[in-house]
Amino acid sequence: RCNRCIPQAVSSVFQDLPVAGGTAYGATEGSCMSFTVVGASGDLAKKKIFPSLFALYYEGMLPENFNIVGYARSKMTQDEFHDLIASTLTCRVENSEGCGEKMEYFLSRCLYVSGQYNEAADFAQLDSALSQAEGNREANRIFYLSIPPSIFIDVAKNAADNASSKTGWTRVIVEKPFGRDSQSSKALSEALALSLTEEQTYRIDHYLGKELIDNLAVLRFSNLVFEPLWNRQYIRNVQIIFSEPFGTEGRGGYFDHYNIIRDIMQNHLLQMLALFAMEPPVSLDAEDIRNEKVKVLRSMRPLDMENLVIGQYKGRKSTNGQDYPAYLDDPTVPEGSLCPTFASLAMYIDNPRWDGVPFLMKAGKALNKRCAEIRVQFRHVPGNLYKNATGLDENLLTNELVIRIQPDEGIYLKINNKVPGLGLRLDNSRLDLSYKSRYNKELPDAYERLILDVVNGDKRLFIRNDELEAAWALFTPLLHKLEDDKIAPELYPYGSRGPIGAHYLASRHGVRWG
Ligand code: NDP
Ligand code: BG6
Repeated sequence: RCNRCIPQAVSSVFQDLPVAGGTAYGATEGSCMSFTVVGASGDLAKKKIFPSLFALYYEGMLPENFNIVGYARSKMTQDEFHDLIASTLTCRVENSEGCGEKMEYFLSRCLYVSGQYNEAADFAQLDSALSQAEGNREANRIFYLSIPPSIFIDVAKNAADNASSKTGWTRVIVEKPFGRDSQSSKALSEALALSLTEEQTYRIDHYLGKELIDNLAVLRFSNLVFEPLWNRQYIRNVQIIFSEPFGTEGRGGYFDHYNIIRDIMQNHLLQMLALFAMEPPVSLDAEDIRNEKVKVLRSMRPLDMENLVIGQYKGRKSTNGQDYPAYLDDPTVPEGSLCPTFASLAMYIDNPRWDGVPFLMKAGKALNKRCAEIRVQFRHVPGNLYKNATGLDENLLTNELVIRIQPDEGIYLKINNKVPGLGLRLDNSRLDLSYKSRYNKELPDAYERLILDVVNGDKRLFIRNDELEAAWALFTPLLHKLEDDKIAPELYPYGSRGPIGAHYLASRHGVRWG
């Protein structure tokens, strides 16, 4: 994306310029959509939400009549708000025609309202600002709660009671974390349900908006070659891996309250597992897909402390003299914290398809690389004629399917191949679908896809209440045991591959990490 064509912040609000746009599902001709970002002064709003809204507008995916409203306590003039947004907007296509004008128009649709989160009167003021921007059109409203969970309930209540649409639908996007365990999640859900119906509530897990996750069902159910192999008879193990090459830098306060299991495994990785392992849904309807995901979560064997390894990163000085801090060096982290920044877990799904197949998860911060992927290792070829051929050890003779979510999105299948030439030497090669070389286009950010789905009322990629309950029911006993018993994490150096215990855990389940 080019960053060159950022226009001067525009000062006039809601000027009447022409705009190319689509008519969203659920919207009637001439209606308008107002999108309010609550917590507009925050990190997520700036980094992801406003750029995604602009990208959607840029691609012509927003309804023709739209208003973007930022709401937070911080005092900001309209110009300051536009500057804040403009600093992160980029154009999708290098040197694209008209990008500057599009940014200018987009900014002209952005309005800032300052107010408290627990004041009904402030939300009434927000309501007036929205109504004024909407004119006398039928208006649909979306509220994105980009705020800490401690104020979700106040905001949901105030938005529903004082600022919901009187002429169209109202939808509310809620960010994770959805609680810390079954009990707190249930309390949050019940409190939100006093103000919002399940239909109106969109629980976001941004991993579900990633291109390769969205493609998972297509890969499985539209190719004859995969689905027949997708079971215990052919698959030896499945690995679901997340790693980041940086620590909690600056987010230690939040992170210490949650840890890597709640931050990554209970949501992002478990969602990947459910989509990977579910039975074919009756249709592509959101409820049919979510019904199948819930069944997987409910079929999972209770998690066992024996099958968990936890780690925490320690500081390291690199060969070029750079200092990498330990987790405990973060000033926002409590002294002596036992919070895991790495976890590895072996899980089982006790259903006919997956009985006995280990699903190994691994998630860590301050590791050696950025990576999110699903690796599927297939069983050995029975009576393999080539097991004594030179070139490969027995472990490499098995096939492996890798779904690379990021970076370098792609799918590849490791196959055995004869090295061309005289003699018989085998080689493990890749049938490779690299998105970069196959599709010469930038992939949309996960938030773009998910925000568009909210606009269109498509809940396929959002977490249903019972899915959330099942996910917490699975993880809560393990998390409580970990915290009650004050289990100390194994230390691993910043920038390493993680604690050695993860390798022992995998080998106890007959797995070698890919
Ligand atoms: P911030 O901490 O930046 O908070 C957003 C805004 O909320 C702040 O600008 C502030 O606005 C207001 N706020 C912050 N703390 C409080 C408080 N204690 N009481 C009242 N208001 C407060 O959060 P993020 O933008 O980072 O994240 C928003 C939500 O998204 C959170 O739930 C977070 O867990 C989740 N999330 C964030 C990700 C990220 O990358 N940042 C990734 C995934 C999820 P003001 O003072 O102006 O009112
Ligand atoms: C968030 C976690 O949900 O996902 C962060 O809270 C993590 O800790 C982030 O860094 C990773 O998202 P992505 O899209 O950058 O892989």
